Amino acid sequence: MQMEEFKLMNENEGIPLFKPYIPKNTIEYVTDTLNSRWIGEGPKVKSFENKFAKFVKAKEGCVAVNSGTAALHLSYILSDIKKDDEVICPLFTCTATNLPILYQGGIPIFCDINKNNLNLNVDEIESLISEKTKAIIVVDYGGVPNEYEKLRGICDKYELKLISDCAHCIDGKFKDKRIHEWSDFTIYSFQAIKTMTTGDGGMLICSRVEDTKLAKKIRWFGIDRQKKQQGVWENDILEVGFKYQMNDIAASIGLASLDEIERTLKRRREIFNRYRFNLKKIEHKIFENYQYNRSFTPWLLTLNCGDKRIDLMNHLRKNRIESAQVHYRNDRYSVFGEQKRRFKNMEDLERSYLVVPMYPQMLNDEIDLISNKILEVL
Ligand SMILES: Cc1ncc(COP(=O)(O)O)c(C=O)c1O
Repeated sequence: MQMEEFKLMNENEGIPLFKPYIPKNTIEYVTDTLNSRWIGEGPKVKSFENKFAKFVKAKEGCVAVNSGTAALHLSYILSDIKKDDEVICPLFTCTATNLPILYQGGIPIFCDINKNNLNLNVDEIESLISEKTKAIIVVDYGGVPNEYEKLRGICDKYELKLISDCAHCIDGKFKDKRIHEWSDFTIYSFQAIKTMTTGDGGMLICSRVEDTKLAKKIRWFGIDRQKKQQGVWENDILEVGFKYQMNDIAASIGLASLDEIERTLKRRREIFNRYRFNLKKIEHKIFENYQYNRSFTPWLLTLNCGDKRIDLMNHLRKNRIESAQVHYRNDRYSVFGEQKRRFKNMEDLERSYLVVPMYPQMLNDEIDLISNKILEVL
């Protein structure tokens, strides 16, 4: 299946790394909202939460917010992260995963990568736990779920919260259980280039209904919006709240995207498989390969280029194909303070990984062209 309607690529543009995917029916959903009484948080947000909960089979319900970062911040608040509490977190991720730990005055304790898939190395976690550890946050890099059985075991043993940043992995499973069934808090991002987008937006799933209720208050100034709208609010605010709620315009884009989600996921898997087939000779150089016990939603295709990353980037650029690192080791950002530990696996790979184009509108010819250009260098 190719998405023929998106075939026309600007001749001069070349092949970008990402392209937002906005289904055609989005215009109808958004127009309906613009013609209605609500454009702020209203009925469309509720419908989007319900429809997303159905898609990921979250019986606890969902909390829609205006970014994945906001969902992460809420999950740290609900995990009771306070000043000087430690959170074991991925070294290799978008800064959005780790910055909200600082909002709470918490201390990010970086964990090295697993060299096979660039996920956080689960086997290192126990050595990082201290009396101050409150939570572990993991990112399922590129869409590949981490080892959730081990993660859950560690969190239960040490009474820690498990938070999953599923910004890359909208539809992952480990041993037939969805990610949110393993975790205390699970977040999703609907930022422009994610598997599904609402322009900007995010979702939080809490394993406990009390947390879902509290998250809904904290996302809107600490006020129970439903009660306030029914005129039965007690006119008091007990928690420090934020302005993190999603609006109905974004939710409308999300509703349209959910109509298409199975098709989008199918196309992403096809693209990934076509790359794999084309790159069979260098299969071991693809980081997110299929792994036992996991179901996988490809969001990125990341290659281990060894010492040829610059050569490959230049070769792709010459052929008008974009590539990039996307994420960068977080300990290099001064905001996280000086790190005393070394991260051996990251050091071995930091000059080698490279992300190549992946988005549902890609044509098979484009995948084949990129694959050939990769093979010319690696
Ligand atoms: C791993 C990861 N976590 C969190 C985020 C933040 O999501 P948002 O941009 O929706 O705040 C992103 C990307 O944007 C991400 O890649």
